[in-house]
Amino acid sequence: MIYAPDALILAPLSGFSDAPYRRSARSCGCRYAFTEMVDAASLVFAFDRSKELLFRGPEETFLGVQLLGGRCDRLREAVERLNDFDFDVLDFNLGCPVPKVAKKCAGAELGLHPEEAARCFETVARYSRFPVSAKLRILDEEDPEPTLRLCRLLVENGARALTVHGRVKQAFYSGPVHFEIIRAVREAFPEIEVVANGGVRSRSSYDEIRRRTGCSRVMVATGAMGNPWIFRELADPAESGGPSAGEWRRVIEEQSAGMIALYGEANACRRARKIFHDYLKGRGFPGQLRAVASQTSSAADLAAWLDTAVNSGVFAR
Ligand SMILES: Cc1cc2nc3c(=O)[nH]c(=O)nc-3n(C[C@H](O)[C@H](O)[C@H](O)COP(=O)(O)O)c2cc1C
Repeated sequence: MIYAPDALILAPLSGFSDAPYRRSARSCGCRYAFTEMVDAASLVFAFDRSKELLFRGPEETFLGVQLLGGRCDRLREAVERLNDFDFDVLDFNLGCPVPKVAKKCAGAELGLHPEEAARCFETVARYSRFPVSAKLRILDEEDPEPTLRLCRLLVENGARALTVHGRVKQAFYSGPVHFEIIRAVREAFPEIEVVANGGVRSRSSYDEIRRRTGCSRVMVATGAMGNPWIFRELADPAESGGPSAGEWRRVIEEQSAGMIALYGEANACRRARKIFHDYLKGRGFPGQLRAVASQTSSAADLAAWLDTAVNSGVFAR
């Protein structure tokens, strides 16, 4: 078994789910998490740069790695590199919709070509020393057959788990989630761990995806951006979820310190800006804090920004 029943999994998030980000989520109760997607060609041709993405913290009891690619030869070499690291599962990306990935017939575009996707997946499964899974998008919003066909090929080629994002490629990351298609996958493969993904932002959306898909295992993505407390909220129905001022500050401070250690101060501050925006979202902070966050360029700026945010009165309300 890869995930225990009822597992709540932090999704791979390109540009976000690095080790400091995962540590924030883990401090709020997240056990299962993924690296962001790692491109097979980068692993093969720019290994030193991709290594950063593969870093696993000592406290990470479960970490999956996600691989993206559309060429069997590259995938084989990339998997052989990943075999030198330590992961609990190797997930193959069949869901990324961005044009530069689609152009190379990888990610969601590859998922639209099930035979080719199965060939790539077979290579990954054959050479990986880790259990293998796939994360895919549904292929049709009404008819389950195309998605089931892709899943069947993946299972025949060694998939031990399938994460199904209930949106088609054109929908990117928003809009309705088609629970019935995820449910069809759940029911067609009782021997496989099927993880439902899409639209989980709160207890009610979490309960809904579980009820309507029949999956007990759920993956959370954008709902955890700037809100690692969602893991606490979903694990315990008695939790209202919101952080106190002290918790909010501690999580951001620790995440920033982790980023500075991993990337150096200048790079970390650049990367942290978008993350601070997420931490401000939906909490009623004054708008100018967003603009100030966009200008932080040192650890001192960051500490000053945190002081202003915490003293803005939001937490007193
Ligand atoms: C900024 C961003 C980066 C993402 N990066 C990845 C990725 O690296 N690998 C992947 O499989 N999905 C990626 N996704 C998709 C999410 O993992 C998830 O499938 C999608 O957001 C739907 O879940 P949600 O409705 O809970 O957000 C990304 C999504 C966003 C918004």
